[in-house]
Amino acid sequence: MNAKDAAPAKADTDKSATLSVGGRQTQMPIRSGTVGPDVIDVGRLYRDTGCFTYDPGFTSTANCSSKITYIDGDKGVLLYRGYPIDQLAESSNFVEVCYLLLYGELPTRPQRESFVTTITRHTMVHEQMTRFFSGFRRDAHPMAVMCGSVGALSAFYHDSTDINDPHQRVVASHRLVAKMPTLAAMAYKYSVGQPFIYPRNDLDYTSNFLQMCFAVPCEPYIVNPVVSKALDRILILHADHEQNASTSTVRLAGSSGANPFACIAAGIACLWGPAHGGANEAALKMLEEIGTVDRVPEYVKKAKDKNSEFRLMGFGHRVYKNYDPRAKVMQQTCHEVLDALGVKDQQLLKVAMELERIALQDDYFVEKKLYPNIDFYSGITLRAMGFPTSMFTVLFAVARTVGWVSQWKEMIEDPEQKIGRPRQLYIGASERPYVPVERRG
Ligand code: CMC
Repeated sequence: MNAKDAAPAKADTDKSATLSVGGRQTQMPIRSGTVGPDVIDVGRLYRDTGCFTYDPGFTSTANCSSKITYIDGDKGVLLYRGYPIDQLAESSNFVEVCYLLLYGELPTRPQRESFVTTITRHTMVHEQMTRFFSGFRRDAHPMAVMCGSVGALSAFYHDSTDINDPHQRVVASHRLVAKMPTLAAMAYKYSVGQPFIYPRNDLDYTSNFLQMCFAVPCEPYIVNPVVSKALDRILILHADHEQNASTSTVRLAGSSGANPFACIAAGIACLWGPAHGGANEAALKMLEEIGTVDRVPEYVKKAKDKNSEFRLMGFGHRVYKNYDPRAKVMQQTCHEVLDALGVKDQQLLKVAMELERIALQDDYFVEKKLYPNIDFYSGITLRAMGFPTSMFTVLFAVARTVGWVSQWKEMIEDPEQKIGRPRQLYIGASERPYVPVERRG
């Protein structure tokens, strides 16, 4: 294949790549984004050559064009709508970031006030949802409860499920961002056998979430401002990450015209896996299993062993081949929270820091460009805040909902949008006649 560059005029059509397969040739346009690698548009490939592309795991395949999030994995850059993640984590707050992701620009002061009011007024869930919860076993994993309860929102909010109505799409997106913390807190309260705590409109988004999780009706609950600020930052860090597995799941589910609540439930199901959102839970379990600093080398050795399935959880990333920019902020947040709560010298943090130190000097990890990702320090931080391990991925889902919804809306509004329908390389039996049971061998 050879790509040829022509003088830049209309960005998308001036460059092309030619491919010839068995004497059949096709010319494929090369599209350029604002930054990042170009893409070869293979849309005509099958028609022109009779071949599909083959790319399990989508390692070289762009599934859509998007204006929301940009990652440069080699440089360790993450931008939401052009703004660097560290600047947003330092200076913005989660609700403002939600506005940015949903609407493309940072809000003016009146826009921000109006958005905060809208989100605050949508935090309650239909009262009948409380009875829906009681159908779950108390020992259900909160992610199982989230898959079910978020999917069930489509049975409660019929007036925002028409995806062809722009107003209903906006209402659904506000409802999802506003109600996720309420449902997440309910999932937690249900698992510990405590009464559900209603949202409080005098508190900001994250403080309200903390009080719904940790307040009890019999005594006042005072939100720790350091914890609230740190959790708000964690929500910002997780809010979007372009076409990751769960976001692609949301887009694929939405491409058939499914309603937004069902699509987000699909995203939650995908996020649950240990290679994705479940990694922070897995990372903390791994640190606990290691237990003491002197056992770190043994686990590093195990992670390098080709005959072992073991991986360092919280290490490596499909896109980042450099330090995950979110992990840097997360590490600093971890220290702040542990300092504020007086658990600075806890064993787990020592184990994590030693593991990071050894792995970053080890040839195996250096050569494969495996660095700590966001999940490496988030588990320690969340546990210090009082969240049980089973809630970690739920918190990720609360944060990522705005990313999922923004991407879903962008997809629905994209004129090029089609139902997602990958092709395959079939390697099963070719056509053969049916064999009656008495003649089977
Ligand atoms: N520990 C040890 N070896 C690893 C690790 C690890 N954590 N991650 C990758 N490798 C090795 C892997 O064995 C492979 O080696 P080889 O080339 O010799 O076969 C090489 O590095 C490339 O790995 P890969 O699985 O082909 O890479 P991938 O891009 O498909 O996987 C990943 C990315 C995140 C699934 C993987 O690095 C991993 O399983 N990490 C641990 C789980 C984790 O922390 N996930 C959270 C990701 S960040 C949160 C999110 O965005 O959801």
